[in-house]
Amino acid sequence: MITTSGLTKVYRSRGREVTALDGVDLHVREGEVYGVIGRSGAGKSSLIRCVNLLERPTAGTVTVAGQDLTALAGHGPRAGRELRRARSRIGMVFQHFNLLSTRTVQDNVELPLEILGTSGGERSRKALELLDLVGLSDKAKAYPAQLSGGQKQRVGIARALAGDPKVLLCDEATSALDPETTRSILQLLRDLNRQLGLTVLLITHEMDVVKSICDSAALMENGRIVESGTVSELLATPGSELAAALFPVGGDVSGDDRTVIDVTFHGDAAARPVISQLSRTYNIDISILGAAMDTVGGRQVGRMRIELPGGYEENVVPVGFLREQGLQIDVVERADHESVLVKDGAK
Ligand SMILES: Nc1ncnc2c1ncn2[C@@H]1O[C@H](COP(=O)(O)OP(=O)(O)OP(=O)(O)O)[C@@H](O)[C@H]1O
Ligand SMILES: [Mg+2]
Repeated sequence: MITTSGLTKVYRSRGREVTALDGVDLHVREGEVYGVIGRSGAGKSSLIRCVNLLERPTAGTVTVAGQDLTALAGHGPRAGRELRRARSRIGMVFQHFNLLSTRTVQDNVELPLEILGTSGGERSRKALELLDLVGLSDKAKAYPAQLSGGQKQRVGIARALAGDPKVLLCDEATSALDPETTRSILQLLRDLNRQLGLTVLLITHEMDVVKSICDSAALMENGRIVESGTVSELLATPGSELAAALFPVGGDVSGDDRTVIDVTFHGDAAARPVISQLSRTYNIDISILGAAMDTVGGRQVGRMRIELPGGYEENVVPVGFLREQGLQIDVVERADHESVLVKDGAK
């Protein structure tokens, strides 16, 4: 549904160059919720602004719903007619809502329809329908200043849906909201994704956002995508930084000369008594350093950090045994007991 290839954005100001995007290949499938996560300055906003051509990429292409947007003329406010039309099919939700304070809620939602030249009666019918969809039918005549942050974002979402988009882009849509309101907005995005078959590309620096609603995710660093895939693929990728951050399991090593491994259970493996089998088969004492069960991408996943006596060379056979049981095994390096992302709070 959204494909970028070799997407590059270099900002030039006062003789300085900043490469915000450095050859990004992104592929978002139709009907999925796709999360891009990364620290401040990684290039997330640049990516989303290039996807709908608010910014003209320096190089590379952007295809949305089969149409190559980079081939259309203009960008930002100077977009040509074809680009404007294509863009009306891409909804955009902002962190700070960007509502017009002098217009009522309903008039804010009608704004994109005015620009599209929709007639008055039709505009008002559509706006009221959208306000109902986001749970705000009683606020049509209110002004933005009379709404809570969560309600303002619902108006922002209703406005983004006015042009019947196939794609919704969200730049930190919940970053200005408290945790409970964040959950309700994420739930709304999930419901819209399911009910309307809307493809959602969202940008966030919060791992919980990815965990609660994303089908797929990508990690951005310095203008590049360094990891990407469906949440299950990521969880099944040994050493994946995103998987470790999505599903952290702590626990400190008890001493020297130990092997620490993270065991991830999903599917049938979760039900088998593999740890006691391992202990009996090899006659070794196993310490459990940490464990967690959680739902990630709508699937139950378990992860356990265990410690075996002896260095890795002595444990090659037991580790092989666990792998044969269909479990995913990540041997935790000494210096790496906490993933970088987790340590930094994914900021
Ligand atoms: N209009 C601009 N002119 C010059 N440099 C810019 C411009 N916009 C962004 N940058 C630079 O590009 C890089 C990426 O910025 P971007 O806003 O895409 O990051 P981000 O991942 O969205 O960060 P944050 O999480 O803080 O929102 C940064 O180094 C930033 O300073
Ligand atoms: Mg940003």
